[in-house]
Amino acid sequence: MRKKIVAGNWKMNKTFSEAETLITEIADALDEVTLTNAEVVLCPPALYIEMAMDVAFESNFTVGAQNIYPEDSGAFTGEISPLMLKELNVAYCIIGHSERRKYFNETHQFLMKKVDALLKHGIRPIFCCGEILSEREANQHFKVVNDQLVESLFHLTTEAFRNVVIAYEPVWAIGTGVTASKEQAQEMHAYIRGLVAKKYDAKTADETTILYGGSCNGKNAGELFAQPDVDGGLIGGASLKTDEFMQIVSAL
Ligand code: 13P
Repeated sequence: MRKKIVAGNWKMNKTFSEAETLITEIADALDEVTLTNAEVVLCPPALYIEMAMDVAFESNFTVGAQNIYPEDSGAFTGEISPLMLKELNVAYCIIGHSERRKYFNETHQFLMKKVDALLKHGIRPIFCCGEILSEREANQHFKVVNDQLVESLFHLTTEAFRNVVIAYEPVWAIGTGVTASKEQAQEMHAYIRGLVAKKYDAKTADETTILYGGSCNGKNAGELFAQPDVDGGLIGGASLKTDEFMQIVSAL
């Protein structure tokens, strides 16, 4: 049975002391929760990963990163490598987020390198895909998502692909308060699972965790996660508030 996940993408938010408070609050709240075949992943800014790992050691969540550069080491000022994350036992890393595609011009090919660099070190990519509004309005959303998966993921062997988590994040829903309807989410998630089945096999597709992201909150998480192909969420703004985040976790 595929694993359900709620992952918090903190993006570039919180000072160190605020981050410590939030992580401790979430860890305390998670102590009261039993997660069955489900995982909570927190992805704070890289600077806070070590602190988060210390808290995670005695708690019920896993730590992820938000980005890497796809080399083990070298003259890449300002970047962090998957090798560095591996030594800290970081389990996941978000790749292909629309903000990185847009503001940092990350291409399909560069994302493919990042995916490979993570898997080389046993770190699971949370691979984001999703269309912008004009693409949906032009009925291009399936093609856009298909291309994102084909160009950056489908070179992987079946064995390697099984370590990938996919996050469908329609860009028009990110940080806008406009969530995809449960029907829109289910339709795209089923489409993605179908692509995986066609490229790999039915078992691999069935075991692939596909998260929804985009204005997911304590109120709408329940109906989104109840869809047969929605296996949890990648949460931005609502992951920065303990109560709201825990409401989302309880919808798993
Ligand atoms: P919001 O939940 O703030 O819309 O952000 C979603 C997101 O980008 C998660 O990666």
